[in-house]
Amino acid sequence: MDDIVSETSLRRARLLSGLVMLAFVFSHLLNHALALISLEAAEYGRGWFSLIWLNPVSSVIFYGAVLVHVILVLRTIYSRRTLKMPVREATQIILGLLIPYMIIDHAAGIRLARALYSIDIGYAVVINNFWIRNPMLGLRQSTVLVLIWLHGCLGVFYWLRYRDWYKQISPYLLTFAVLLPILALLGFSDAGRAMETNPPVRVVHPNQAELEAVVDRVTAGLKTIFGGAVLLVFVMRGARSWRQRSNAFEIRYDHGALVRVPAGLSILEASRSGGVSHFSACGGKGRCSTCRVRIIQTDGPLPEPSSLERATLQRVHADDDVRLGCQLRPRHNLSVALLLSSRQKGDMPPNAEPIRPGREEEIAVLFCDLRNFTALSEARLPYDMVFLLNRYFTMVGQAVEHAGGRLDKFIGDGAMALFGLDGDKDLASRNALKAAAHILRNVETLNEELERQFAVKLKVVVGIHAGPSIVGVMGYGDAKNLTAIGDTVNVASRLESAAKEFDTSIVVSEPLLRQSGHDAQTLERRTIAIRGKRNEMRVFLISELESQRFL
Ligand code: FES
Repeated sequence: MDDIVSETSLRRARLLSGLVMLAFVFSHLLNHALALISLEAAEYGRGWFSLIWLNPVSSVIFYGAVLVHVILVLRTIYSRRTLKMPVREATQIILGLLIPYMIIDHAAGIRLARALYSIDIGYAVVINNFWIRNPMLGLRQSTVLVLIWLHGCLGVFYWLRYRDWYKQISPYLLTFAVLLPILALLGFSDAGRAMETNPPVRVVHPNQAELEAVVDRVTAGLKTIFGGAVLLVFVMRGARSWRQRSNAFEIRYDHGALVRVPAGLSILEASRSGGVSHFSACGGKGRCSTCRVRIIQTDGPLPEPSSLERATLQRVHADDDVRLGCQLRPRHNLSVALLLSSRQKGDMPPNAEPIRPGREEEIAVLFCDLRNFTALSEARLPYDMVFLLNRYFTMVGQAVEHAGGRLDKFIGDGAMALFGLDGDKDLASRNALKAAAHILRNVETLNEELERQFAVKLKVVVGIHAGPSIVGVMGYGDAKNLTAIGDTVNVASRLESAAKEFDTSIVVSEPLLRQSGHDAQTLERRTIAIRGKRNEMRVFLISELESQRFL
Protein backbone atom coordinates (compact mmCIF):
# COMPACT_ATOMS: atom_id res chain seq x y z
CA MET A 1 0.00 0.00 0.00
CA ASP A 2 2.87 2.35 0.94
CA ASP A 3 4.50 1.66 -2.43
CA ILE A 4 1.29 2.59 -4.21
CA VAL A 5 0.83 5.74 -2.14
CA SER A 6 4.40 6.86 -2.70
CA GLU A 7 4.21 6.12 -6.44
CA THR A 8 1.03 8.19 -6.62
CA SER A 9 2.71 11.03 -4.71
CA LEU A 10 5.71 10.93 -7.03
CA ARG A 11 3.44 11.00 -10.05
CA ARG A 12 1.66 14.02 -8.61
CA ALA A 13 4.96 15.73 -7.83
CA ARG A 14 6.12 15.14 -11.40
CA LEU A 15 2.88 16.51 -12.79
CA LEU A 16 2.80 19.55 -10.54
CA SER A 17 6.44 20.48 -11.13
CA GLY A 18 5.93 19.97 -14.87
CA LEU A 19 2.90 22.25 -14.90
CA VAL A 20 4.85 24.99 -13.11
CA MET A 21 7.57 24.81 -15.76
CA LEU A 22 5.03 24.69 -18.55
CA ALA A 23 3.41 27.87 -17.22
CA PHE A 24 6.86 29.49 -17.20
CA VAL A 25 7.57 28.52 -20.80
CA PHE A 26 4.09 29.56 -21.85
CA SER A 27 4.67 33.09 -20.56
CA HIS A 28 8.13 33.11 -22.16
CA LEU A 29 6.72 32.18 -25.57
CA LEU A 30 3.89 34.64 -25.16
CA ASN A 31 6.43 37.36 -24.45
CA HIS A 32 8.22 36.64 -27.74
CA ALA A 33 4.91 36.45 -29.64
CA LEU A 34 4.15 39.99 -28.43
CA ALA A 35 7.12 41.19 -30.49
CA LEU A 36 4.91 40.60 -33.54
CA ILE A 37 2.95 43.64 -32.39
CA SER A 38 5.97 45.80 -31.55
CA LEU A 39 9.15 45.87 -29.52
CA GLU A 40 7.35 48.05 -26.97
CA ALA A 41 4.65 45.41 -26.56
CA ALA A 42 7.32 42.75 -26.02
CA GLU A 43 9.09 45.01 -23.52
CA TYR A 44 5.79 45.53 -21.72
CA GLY A 45 5.25 41.76 -21.67
CA ARG A 46 8.77 41.24 -20.34
CA GLY A 47 7.97 43.60 -17.46
CA TRP A 48 5.04 41.39 -16.49
CA PHE A 49 7.10 38.26 -17.04
CA SER A 50 9.78 39.55 -14.64
CA LEU A 51 7.19 40.61 -12.11
CA ILE A 52 5.56 37.18 -12.10
CA TRP A 53 8.59 34.92 -12.39
CA LEU A 54 11.52 36.80 -10.93
CA ASN A 55 10.09 37.61 -7.51
CA PRO A 56 11.43 35.63 -4.52
CA VAL A 57 8.30 33.48 -4.02
CA SER A 58 7.87 32.41 -7.64
CA SER A 59 11.66 31.91 -7.93
CA VAL A 60 11.53 29.39 -5.08
CA ILE A 61 8.49 27.68 -6.64
CA PHE A 62 10.04 27.61 -10.11
CA TYR A 63 13.51 26.40 -9.11
CA GLY A 64 11.94 23.96 -6.66
CA ALA A 65 9.84 22.58 -9.54
CA VAL A 66 12.92 22.29 -11.79
CA LEU A 67 14.84 20.49 -9.05
CA VAL A 68 11.97 18.08 -8.29
CA HIS A 69 11.48 17.35 -11.98
CA VAL A 70 15.16 16.70 -12.59
CA ILE A 71 15.45 14.46 -9.52
CA LEU A 72 12.42 12.47 -10.66
CA VAL A 73 13.90 12.00 -14.14
CA LEU A 74 17.15 10.75 -12.58
CA ARG A 75 15.16 8.46 -10.29
CA THR A 76 13.27 7.03 -13.27
CA ILE A 77 16.53 6.32 -15.07
CA TYR A 78 17.96 4.59 -12.03
CA SER A 79 14.91 2.61 -11.06
CA ARG A 80 14.26 1.19 -14.53
CA ARG A 81 15.85 -2.22 -14.70
CA THR A 82 16.14 -2.02 -18.46
CA LEU A 83 16.50 1.01 -20.69
CA LYS A 84 14.42 -0.66 -23.39
CA MET A 85 11.25 1.40 -23.47
CA PRO A 86 8.68 2.83 -25.87
CA VAL A 87 9.96 5.71 -28.02
CA ARG A 88 7.58 8.22 -26.40
CA GLU A 89 8.91 7.39 -22.94
CA ALA A 90 12.52 7.57 -24.13
CA THR A 91 11.81 10.95 -25.78
CA GLN A 92 10.46 12.36 -22.54
CA ILE A 93 13.46 11.10 -20.53
CA ILE A 94 16.03 12.40 -23.04
CA LEU A 95 14.32 15.79 -23.20
CA GLY A 96 14.11 15.81 -19.40
CA LEU A 97 17.92 15.49 -19.26
CA LEU A 98 18.81 17.76 -22.17
CA ILE A 99 16.64 20.70 -21.21
CA PRO A 100 18.11 21.56 -17.79
CA TYR A 101 21.63 21.27 -19.22
CA MET A 102 20.85 23.61 -22.09
CA ILE A 103 19.13 26.33 -20.06
CA ILE A 104 21.63 26.61 -17.25
CA ASP A 105 23.64 29.48 -18.86
CA HIS A 106 20.66 31.61 -19.77
CA ALA A 107 18.90 31.11 -16.45
CA ALA A 108 22.08 31.78 -14.46
CA GLY A 109 22.88 34.92 -16.50
CA ILE A 110 19.45 36.50 -16.01
CA ARG A 111 19.15 35.55 -12.35
CA LEU A 112 22.66 36.53 -11.30
CA ALA A 113 22.51 39.86 -13.14
CA ARG A 114 19.39 40.73 -11.20
CA ALA A 115 20.43 39.24 -7.85
CA LEU A 116 24.01 40.56 -7.70
CA TYR A 117 23.89 43.84 -9.57
CA SER A 118 20.16 44.60 -9.84
CA ILE A 119 20.49 44.56 -13.63
CA ASP A 120 17.12 44.18 -15.28
CA ILE A 121 17.95 42.84 -18.73
CA GLY A 122 15.49 44.40 -21.16
CA TYR A 123 13.90 42.66 -24.15
CA ALA A 124 15.96 44.71 -26.60
CA VAL A 125 19.18 43.59 -24.89
CA VAL A 126 18.10 39.95 -25.04
CA ILE A 127 17.33 40.23 -28.76
CA ASN A 128 20.56 42.10 -29.38
CA ASN A 129 22.52 39.37 -27.60
CA PHE A 130 20.75 36.46 -29.30
CA TRP A 131 20.16 37.83 -32.79
CA ILE A 132 23.05 40.17 -33.50
CA ARG A 133 25.93 39.40 -31.14
CA ASN A 134 25.64 35.63 -30.91
CA PRO A 135 23.10 34.18 -33.40
CA MET A 136 24.21 30.60 -32.67
CA LEU A 137 23.34 31.12 -29.03
CA GLY A 138 20.00 32.57 -30.12
CA LEU A 139 19.34 29.51 -32.27
CA ARG A 140 20.20 27.25 -29.35
CA GLN A 141 17.95 29.14 -26.93
CA SER A 142 15.06 29.09 -29.40
CA THR A 143 15.51 25.35 -29.88
CA VAL A 144 15.56 24.79 -26.11
CA LEU A 145 12.42 26.85 -25.63
CA VAL A 146 10.58 24.84 -28.28
CA LEU A 147 11.90 21.57 -26.79
CA ILE A 148 10.67 22.50 -23.31
CA TRP A 149 7.29 23.39 -24.77
CA LEU A 150 7.18 20.08 -26.65
CA HIS A 151 8.21 18.15 -23.53
CA GLY A 152 5.50 19.89 -21.49
CA CYS A 153 2.81 19.41 -24.15
CA LEU A 154 3.63 15.70 -24.38
CA GLY A 155 3.37 15.48 -20.59
CA VAL A 156 -0.03 17.17 -20.66
CA PHE A 157 -1.14 14.84 -23.44
CA TYR A 158 -0.18 11.71 -21.46
CA TRP A 159 -1.91 13.17 -18.42
CA LEU A 160 -5.19 14.04 -20.10
CA ARG A 161 -5.54 11.63 -23.02
CA TYR A 162 -7.93 9.20 -21.30
CA ARG A 163 -10.24 11.93 -19.97
CA ASP A 164 -13.66 11.72 -21.37
CA TRP A 165 -13.70 15.29 -22.66
CA TYR A 166 -10.19 15.24 -24.03
CA LYS A 167 -11.21 14.13 -27.51
CA GLN A 168 -13.46 17.16 -27.85
CA ILE A 169 -10.87 19.73 -26.89
CA SER A 170 -7.78 18.03 -28.34
CA PRO A 171 -8.00 19.77 -31.75
CA TYR A 172 -7.99 23.18 -30.00
CA LEU A 173 -5.16 22.17 -27.68
CA LEU A 174 -3.12 20.88 -30.61
CA THR A 175 -3.69 24.05 -32.61
CA PHE A 176 -2.66 26.14 -29.63
CA ALA A 177 0.38 23.94 -28.92
CA VAL A 178 1.63 24.34 -32.51
CA LEU A 179 0.67 27.96 -32.99
CA LEU A 180 2.22 29.47 -29.87
CA PRO A 181 5.88 28.51 -30.55
CA ILE A 182 5.47 29.50 -34.21
CA LEU A 183 4.20 32.94 -33.22
CA ALA A 184 6.98 33.22 -30.63
CA LEU A 185 9.69 32.39 -33.18
CA LEU A 186 8.17 34.80 -35.69
CA GLY A 187 8.09 37.50 -33.01
CA PHE A 188 11.70 36.80 -32.08
CA SER A 189 12.89 36.98 -35.69
CA ASP A 190 10.80 40.11 -36.35
CA ALA A 191 12.38 41.83 -33.37
CA GLY A 192 15.82 40.63 -34.48
CA ARG A 193 15.41 41.97 -38.01
CA ALA A 194 14.10 45.29 -36.72
CA MET A 195 17.19 45.52 -34.56
CA GLU A 196 19.54 44.79 -37.48
CA THR A 197 18.38 47.98 -39.18
CA ASN A 198 18.26 49.97 -35.99
CA PRO A 199 20.73 48.47 -33.51
CA PRO A 200 20.48 49.74 -29.94
CA VAL A 201 23.33 51.58 -28.34
CA ARG A 202 25.09 48.96 -26.27
CA VAL A 203 25.37 50.13 -22.69
CA VAL A 204 28.01 48.18 -20.85
CA HIS A 205 27.36 47.86 -17.15
CA PRO A 206 30.38 48.90 -15.03
CA ASN A 207 30.42 45.42 -13.49
CA GLN A 208 29.85 43.60 -16.77
CA ALA A 209 33.18 41.77 -16.82
CA GLU A 210 32.84 40.79 -13.19
CA LEU A 211 29.27 39.58 -13.78
CA GLU A 212 30.29 37.51 -16.80
CA ALA A 213 33.06 35.88 -14.79
CA VAL A 214 30.63 35.00 -11.98
CA VAL A 215 28.06 33.70 -14.46
CA ASP A 216 30.75 31.55 -16.13
CA ARG A 217 31.83 30.13 -12.80
CA VAL A 218 28.31 29.43 -11.57
CA THR A 219 27.28 27.95 -14.94
CA ALA A 220 30.32 25.70 -15.01
CA GLY A 221 29.63 24.63 -11.41
CA LEU A 222 25.97 23.87 -12.08
CA LYS A 223 26.78 21.96 -15.27
CA THR A 224 29.39 19.93 -13.42
CA ILE A 225 26.92 19.10 -10.64
CA PHE A 226 24.22 18.19 -13.14
CA GLY A 227 26.55 16.17 -15.36
CA GLY A 228 27.98 14.50 -12.25
CA ALA A 229 24.50 13.56 -11.03
CA VAL A 230 23.62 12.03 -14.41
CA LEU A 231 26.94 10.20 -14.50
CA LEU A 232 26.43 8.97 -10.95
CA VAL A 233 23.04 7.53 -11.85
CA PHE A 234 24.54 5.61 -14.76
CA VAL A 235 27.47 4.45 -12.64
CA MET A 236 25.01 3.21 -10.01
CA ARG A 237 23.03 1.43 -12.71
CA GLY A 238 26.25 -0.11 -14.04
CA ALA A 239 27.26 -1.28 -10.56
CA ARG A 240 23.85 -2.79 -10.02
CA SER A 241 23.89 -4.61 -13.38
CA TRP A 242 27.41 -5.87 -12.70
CA ARG A 243 26.28 -7.24 -9.34
CA GLN A 244 23.24 -8.79 -10.94
CA ARG A 245 25.03 -10.19 -13.96
CA SER A 246 27.30 -12.18 -11.74
CA ASN A 247 24.08 -13.87 -10.60
CA ALA A 248 22.34 -14.16 -13.99
CA PHE A 249 19.54 -16.67 -14.40
CA GLU A 250 17.48 -18.13 -17.24
CA ILE A 251 13.74 -18.12 -17.80
CA ARG A 252 12.32 -20.69 -20.15
CA TYR A 253 8.80 -19.95 -21.41
CA ASP A 254 6.28 -22.65 -22.24
CA HIS A 255 6.11 -21.46 -25.86
CA GLY A 256 9.82 -22.11 -26.28
CA ALA A 257 11.43 -18.68 -25.72
CA LEU A 258 14.50 -18.50 -23.51
CA VAL A 259 15.66 -15.33 -21.79
CA ARG A 260 18.85 -14.92 -19.79
CA VAL A 261 18.81 -11.90 -17.47
CA PRO A 262 20.69 -10.57 -14.44
CA ALA A 263 19.37 -11.44 -11.01
CA GLY A 264 17.17 -8.76 -9.52
CA LEU A 265 14.90 -8.43 -12.52
CA SER A 266 11.27 -9.43 -12.18
CA ILE A 267 9.89 -11.99 -14.63
CA LEU A 268 7.95 -9.18 -16.32
CA GLU A 269 11.11 -7.10 -16.74
CA ALA A 270 12.96 -10.17 -17.98
CA SER A 271 10.21 -10.80 -20.55
CA ARG A 272 10.44 -7.23 -21.76
CA SER A 273 14.19 -7.21 -21.99
CA GLY A 274 14.06 -10.51 -23.90
CA GLY A 275 11.34 -9.29 -26.29
CA VAL A 276 8.73 -11.73 -24.93
CA SER A 277 5.21 -10.30 -25.07
CA HIS A 278 3.99 -10.20 -21.46
CA PHE A 279 0.76 -8.41 -20.57
CA SER A 280 0.68 -6.01 -17.62
CA ALA A 281 -2.42 -3.87 -17.24
CA CYS A 282 -1.33 -1.92 -14.13
CA GLY A 283 2.22 -1.33 -15.35
CA GLY A 284 3.85 -3.73 -12.88
CA LYS A 285 2.41 -2.32 -9.67
CA GLY A 286 1.00 -5.60 -8.35
CA ARG A 287 -2.54 -4.31 -8.64
CA CYS A 288 -4.08 -6.24 -11.50
CA SER A 289 -2.80 -9.86 -11.72
CA THR A 290 -2.72 -9.75 -15.53
CA CYS A 291 1.01 -10.51 -15.52
CA ARG A 292 0.46 -13.78 -13.65
CA VAL A 293 2.60 -16.79 -14.55
CA ARG A 294 2.50 -20.44 -13.64
CA ILE A 295 5.79 -21.77 -12.32
CA ILE A 296 6.45 -25.01 -14.19
CA GLN A 297 9.83 -25.82 -12.75
CA THR A 298 12.54 -24.04 -10.76
CA ASP A 299 16.15 -24.91 -9.94
CA GLY A 300 15.94 -23.40 -6.46
CA PRO A 301 13.55 -21.89 -3.95
CA LEU A 302 11.59 -18.81 -5.02
CA PRO A 303 11.40 -15.68 -2.86
CA GLU A 304 8.25 -15.60 -0.75
CA PRO A 305 5.51 -13.31 -2.13
CA SER A 306 5.34 -9.84 -0.58
CA SER A 307 2.15 -8.90 1.24
CA LEU A 308 1.04 -6.95 -1.85
CA GLU A 309 1.57 -9.94 -4.14
CA ARG A 310 -0.02 -12.33 -1.66
CA ALA A 311 -3.12 -10.15 -1.33
CA THR A 312 -3.56 -9.89 -5.11
CA LEU A 313 -3.08 -13.63 -5.62
CA GLN A 314 -5.56 -14.42 -2.87
CA ARG A 315 -8.04 -12.07 -4.40
CA VAL A 316 -7.98 -13.88 -7.73
CA HIS A 317 -7.94 -17.29 -5.99
CA ALA A 318 -4.72 -18.15 -7.78
CA ASP A 319 -3.33 -21.68 -7.53
CA ASP A 320 -0.27 -22.25 -5.36
CA ASP A 321 2.06 -22.43 -8.36
CA VAL A 322 0.90 -19.06 -9.76
CA ARG A 323 2.87 -15.88 -9.10
CA LEU A 324 2.75 -12.28 -10.31
CA GLY A 325 5.32 -11.78 -13.05
CA CYS A 326 5.91 -8.17 -12.05
CA GLN A 327 6.60 -8.99 -8.40
CA LEU A 328 8.56 -12.22 -8.54
CA ARG A 329 12.32 -11.70 -8.80
CA PRO A 330 13.80 -15.18 -9.09
CA ARG A 331 17.42 -16.06 -8.31
CA HIS A 332 17.54 -19.44 -10.06
CA ASN A 333 16.74 -20.78 -13.50
CA LEU A 334 13.07 -21.53 -13.95
CA SER A 335 10.37 -22.40 -16.49
CA VAL A 336 7.11 -20.47 -16.61
CA ALA A 337 3.86 -20.28 -18.56
CA LEU A 338 2.30 -16.86 -19.20
CA LEU A 339 -1.35 -17.19 -18.21
CA LEU A 340 -2.96 -14.09 -19.70
CA SER A 341 -2.59 -12.37 -23.00
CA SER A 342 -3.98 -9.02 -24.12
CA ARG A 343 -5.42 -10.68 -27.21
CA GLN A 344 -6.59 -14.13 -28.18
CA LYS A 345 -4.99 -15.53 -31.30
CA GLY A 346 -7.31 -15.04 -34.26
CA ASP A 347 -9.96 -13.24 -32.23
CA MET A 348 -8.75 -9.73 -32.94
CA PRO A 349 -8.90 -8.12 -36.35
CA PRO A 350 -5.43 -7.10 -37.52
CA ASN A 351 -6.19 -3.38 -37.21
CA ALA A 352 -7.89 -3.60 -33.81
CA GLU A 353 -6.68 -1.08 -31.28
CA PRO A 354 -4.75 -2.73 -28.46
CA ILE A 355 -6.29 -2.63 -25.01
CA ARG A 356 -4.91 0.33 -23.09
CA PRO A 357 -3.88 -0.23 -19.50
CA GLY A 358 -6.18 1.47 -17.00
CA ARG A 359 -5.14 3.90 -14.31
CA GLU A 360 -6.20 4.19 -10.70
CA GLU A 361 -8.43 7.19 -9.99
CA GLU A 362 -10.30 8.43 -6.94
CA ILE A 363 -13.84 8.72 -8.25
CA ALA A 364 -17.46 8.65 -7.10
CA VAL A 365 -19.75 6.01 -8.61
CA LEU A 366 -23.53 6.27 -8.75
CA PHE A 367 -25.92 3.41 -9.47
CA CYS A 368 -29.63 3.98 -9.95
CA ASP A 369 -32.39 1.54 -10.66
CA LEU A 370 -36.16 1.38 -11.05
CA ARG A 371 -38.13 -0.35 -8.33
CA ASN A 372 -40.65 -3.03 -9.37
CA PHE A 373 -39.54 -2.86 -12.97
CA THR A 374 -40.40 -6.52 -13.68
CA ALA A 375 -43.98 -6.14 -12.45
CA LEU A 376 -44.21 -2.90 -14.39
CA SER A 377 -43.07 -4.41 -17.67
CA GLU A 378 -45.23 -7.53 -17.36
CA ALA A 379 -48.38 -5.44 -17.37
CA ARG A 380 -47.47 -3.30 -20.35
CA LEU A 381 -46.91 -3.53 -24.07
CA PRO A 382 -43.23 -3.90 -24.97
CA TYR A 383 -43.35 -0.81 -27.22
CA ASP A 384 -44.78 1.22 -24.36
CA MET A 385 -41.95 0.00 -22.17
CA VAL A 386 -39.41 1.13 -24.76
CA PHE A 387 -40.99 4.57 -24.69
CA LEU A 388 -41.07 4.67 -20.89
CA LEU A 389 -37.51 3.49 -20.51
CA ASN A 390 -36.21 5.96 -23.06
CA ARG A 391 -37.87 8.83 -21.23
CA TYR A 392 -36.39 7.59 -17.97
CA PHE A 393 -32.89 7.05 -19.48
CA THR A 394 -32.93 10.56 -20.98
CA MET A 395 -33.89 12.03 -17.63
CA VAL A 396 -31.10 10.13 -15.83
CA GLY A 397 -28.53 11.00 -18.50
CA GLN A 398 -29.38 14.70 -18.37
CA ALA A 399 -29.27 14.76 -14.56
CA VAL A 400 -25.83 13.13 -14.54
CA GLU A 401 -24.41 15.41 -17.22
CA HIS A 402 -25.96 18.46 -15.61
CA ALA A 403 -24.08 17.59 -12.41
CA GLY A 404 -20.76 17.19 -14.25
CA GLY A 405 -20.73 13.38 -14.31
CA ARG A 406 -20.31 10.84 -17.07
CA LEU A 407 -23.00 8.33 -17.80
CA ASP A 408 -21.10 5.07 -17.99
CA LYS A 409 -23.75 2.59 -19.05
CA PHE A 410 -27.35 1.48 -18.79
CA ILE A 411 -27.81 -1.97 -17.35
CA GLY A 412 -31.35 -3.19 -17.93
CA ASP A 413 -33.48 -0.56 -16.16
CA GLY A 414 -30.51 0.69 -14.15
CA ALA A 415 -27.70 3.11 -14.88
CA MET A 416 -24.14 3.61 -13.72
CA ALA A 417 -22.48 7.03 -13.68
CA LEU A 418 -18.96 8.18 -12.85
CA PHE A 419 -17.90 11.44 -11.24
CA GLY A 420 -14.41 12.86 -10.77
CA LEU A 421 -12.67 11.56 -13.88
CA ASP A 422 -11.21 15.07 -14.04
CA GLY A 423 -9.50 14.68 -10.71
CA ASP A 424 -11.26 16.53 -7.87
CA LYS A 425 -12.65 13.82 -5.60
CA ASP A 426 -14.46 16.13 -3.15
CA LEU A 427 -16.23 17.85 -6.00
CA ALA A 428 -16.96 14.43 -7.48
CA SER A 429 -18.78 13.38 -4.31
CA ARG A 430 -20.80 16.60 -4.19
CA ASN A 431 -21.68 16.24 -7.88
CA ALA A 432 -22.78 12.63 -7.45
CA LEU A 433 -25.16 13.71 -4.66
CA LYS A 434 -26.37 16.57 -6.81
CA ALA A 435 -27.06 14.17 -9.71
CA ALA A 436 -29.02 11.84 -7.38
CA ALA A 437 -31.12 14.76 -6.16
CA HIS A 438 -31.79 15.81 -9.76
CA ILE A 439 -32.81 12.29 -10.74
CA LEU A 440 -35.27 12.06 -7.85
CA ARG A 441 -36.72 15.48 -8.53
CA ASN A 442 -36.99 14.95 -12.28
CA VAL A 443 -38.59 11.54 -11.94
CA GLU A 444 -41.41 13.22 -10.07
CA THR A 445 -41.97 15.57 -13.01
CA LEU A 446 -41.81 12.64 -15.41
CA ASN A 447 -44.30 10.73 -13.29
CA GLU A 448 -46.90 13.47 -13.68
CA GLU A 449 -46.99 12.75 -17.40
CA LEU A 450 -46.59 8.98 -17.20
CA GLU A 451 -49.33 8.62 -14.63
CA ARG A 452 -51.76 10.41 -16.92
CA GLN A 453 -50.86 8.43 -20.05
CA PHE A 454 -49.82 5.03 -18.78
CA ALA A 455 -51.02 4.86 -15.18
CA VAL A 456 -47.41 4.31 -14.21
CA LYS A 457 -45.42 5.76 -11.34
CA LEU A 458 -41.68 5.23 -11.56
CA LYS A 459 -39.71 4.94 -8.35
CA VAL A 460 -35.95 5.27 -8.48
CA VAL A 461 -33.38 4.11 -5.93
CA VAL A 462 -29.79 5.29 -5.88
CA GLY A 463 -26.54 4.01 -4.33
CA ILE A 464 -23.36 6.13 -4.26
CA HIS A 465 -19.85 5.36 -3.07
CA ALA A 466 -16.45 7.01 -3.56
CA GLY A 467 -12.97 5.54 -3.61
CA PRO A 468 -10.18 4.28 -5.85
CA SER A 469 -11.20 2.57 -9.09
CA ILE A 470 -9.41 1.36 -12.14
CA VAL A 471 -10.47 3.61 -14.99
CA GLY A 472 -9.65 2.57 -18.52
CA VAL A 473 -10.90 1.89 -22.01
CA MET A 474 -12.41 -1.58 -22.15
CA GLY A 475 -14.40 -3.58 -24.62
CA TYR A 476 -14.09 -4.57 -28.23
CA GLY A 477 -14.65 -2.80 -31.54
CA ASP A 478 -17.50 -0.31 -31.36
CA ALA A 479 -18.47 -1.61 -27.93
CA LYS A 480 -15.31 -0.15 -26.43
CA ASN A 481 -15.55 2.75 -24.01
CA LEU A 482 -14.05 4.36 -20.96
CA THR A 483 -15.37 2.73 -17.81
CA ALA A 484 -14.42 1.93 -14.23
CA ILE A 485 -14.09 -1.32 -12.38
CA GLY A 486 -13.11 -2.37 -8.90
CA ASP A 487 -14.34 -2.39 -5.33
CA THR A 488 -15.76 1.13 -5.45
CA VAL A 489 -18.05 0.17 -8.32
CA ASN A 490 -19.15 -3.06 -6.61
CA VAL A 491 -19.89 -1.25 -3.35
CA ALA A 492 -21.91 1.47 -5.12
CA SER A 493 -23.99 -1.24 -6.77
CA ARG A 494 -24.49 -2.92 -3.40
CA LEU A 495 -25.66 0.40 -1.89
CA GLU A 496 -28.27 0.73 -4.61
CA SER A 497 -29.65 -2.70 -3.61
CA ALA A 498 -29.50 -1.58 0.02
CA ALA A 499 -31.70 1.41 -0.87
CA LYS A 500 -34.39 -1.09 -1.95
CA GLU A 501 -33.93 -3.15 1.21
CA PHE A 502 -34.21 -0.09 3.46
CA ASP A 503 -37.08 1.28 1.37
CA THR A 504 -35.39 4.64 0.96
CA SER A 505 -34.41 6.73 -2.05
CA ILE A 506 -30.65 7.02 -1.68
CA VAL A 507 -28.00 5.11 0.27
CA VAL A 508 -24.56 6.68 0.38
CA SER A 509 -21.37 5.43 1.98
CA GLU A 510 -19.71 7.28 4.83
CA PRO A 511 -16.53 8.10 2.82
CA LEU A 512 -18.60 9.71 0.10
CA LEU A 513 -20.61 11.85 2.48
CA ARG A 514 -17.47 12.90 4.34
CA GLN A 515 -15.74 13.87 1.10
CA SER A 516 -18.74 15.83 -0.09
CA GLY A 517 -18.56 18.08 2.98
CA HIS A 518 -22.33 17.76 3.53
CA ASP A 519 -23.63 17.52 7.08
CA ALA A 520 -24.60 13.99 8.17
CA GLN A 521 -26.19 15.00 11.50
CA THR A 522 -29.80 14.64 10.50
CA LEU A 523 -29.39 11.54 8.33
CA GLU A 524 -30.32 8.04 9.40
CA ARG A 525 -27.28 5.75 9.79
CA ARG A 526 -27.04 2.03 9.26
CA THR A 527 -24.32 -0.53 8.89
CA ILE A 528 -24.44 -3.09 6.13
CA ALA A 529 -22.39 -6.11 5.18
CA ILE A 530 -20.57 -5.97 1.86
CA ARG A 531 -19.75 -9.23 0.13
CA GLY A 532 -16.02 -9.89 0.18
CA LYS A 533 -15.36 -7.38 2.98
CA ARG A 534 -14.61 -8.41 6.52
CA ASN A 535 -15.92 -5.25 8.18
CA GLU A 536 -19.37 -3.85 7.88
CA MET A 537 -19.75 -0.48 6.21
CA ARG A 538 -21.50 2.52 7.68
CA VAL A 539 -24.02 4.09 5.31
CA PHE A 540 -26.54 6.92 5.38
CA LEU A 541 -30.14 6.73 4.23
CA ILE A 542 -31.46 9.78 2.40
CA SER A 543 -35.09 10.32 1.55
CA GLU A 544 -36.20 12.09 -1.59
CA LEU A 545 -37.09 15.18 0.44
CA GLU A 546 -33.74 15.25 2.24
CA SER A 547 -31.89 14.86 -1.06
CA GLN A 548 -33.15 18.21 -2.35
CA ARG A 549 -30.64 20.08 -0.19
CA PHE A 550 -27.86 18.72 -2.43
CA LEU A 551 -29.15 20.66 -5.42
S1 FES B 1 1.30 -6.02 -13.98
FE1 FES B 1 -0.40 -5.71 -12.71
S2 FES B 1 0.01 -7.09 -11.13
FE2 FES B 1 1.69 -7.38 -12.37
